Amino acid sequence: MGPGWSRLLALSLLFPIDPLGILAFLLGWGLPGCKGSRIIGGREAKPHSRPYMASVRFLGEHHCGGVLFMAQWVLTAAHCFFNKDSSHALVVLGAHSPSDPEPTQQVFRIQRSILHPYYDPVSHQNDICLLKLNRKAVLSSSVGLLKLPREGVDPEQGTKCLVSGWGSLSDFGESPQGLMETDVSVLGRESCNRSWKGQVSSKMVCANSGSWKHNGFCTADSGGPLICGEAAQGIVSFSGTWCGDPSTPDVYTLVSAYISWIQCVIQESK
Ligand SMILES: *[C@@H]1O[C@H](CO)[C@@H](O)[C@H](O)[C@H]1NC(C)=O
Repeated sequence: MGPGWSRLLALSLLFPIDPLGILAFLLGWGLPGCKGSRIIGGREAKPHSRPYMASVRFLGEHHCGGVLFMAQWVLTAAHCFFNKDSSHALVVLGAHSPSDPEPTQQVFRIQRSILHPYYDPVSHQNDICLLKLNRKAVLSSSVGLLKLPREGVDPEQGTKCLVSGWGSLSDFGESPQGLMETDVSVLGRESCNRSWKGQVSSKMVCANSGSWKHNGFCTADSGGPLICGEAAQGIVSFSGTWCGDPSTPDVYTLVSAYISWIQCVIQESK
């Protein structure tokens, strides 16, 4: 047995719930930071109950989530568009299914994608991106807006929130039938920062399910919103490799730290 196999065995004993994820990691598929696209242990959302959810698709395949906050503007994560040509992407609103056409859907091209100018793919700083759709969405019962928070609001530790997305249901890429969601609570930034060895800045917010039953810490869907009360407080940014690994809680971009940047981009684009 080579060192790889004994590592696999040791990890399987430590994390018996998710041996496939460990195998995927050893094969090099599980690079932390980019694979945060999973809602695990959540529930299927009531169809169209989250009408602000946007599905960003490349070649017809769901790539990232996003949130509609104005009729022509979607907020998502910068890592979703880093080194990607947004002219090849479509934004689908009013969807429940990640792949099938539905009569409620409105499909858009992206007129402009604006990554935060100081986005850093290594440190995940400023992982935020604005998408201007090629026309205004028609608001309906299945297409609607979610508010952004006020500038500088920092959700307190223990705040109950919800994360929603079409990401895979397992480390092995099983796709959901419809939009999924799961409950999470905001974590203290200091302890989260310690878990992430100093990578968490004041412009990030951490959350987890707080329950081992839910295999928390793996409940992300890149670019999608962290919904606390009536506002999109966070954007799914990065998470750890292993589901249920308490050493790496999910980390979100703190939207309230970017309100003036967002207003500025929208103003300039008029
Ligand atoms: C996180 O930890 C690093 C290293 O200790 C520190 O430089 C940074 O300021 C911390 N971030 C926050 C938000 O406290």
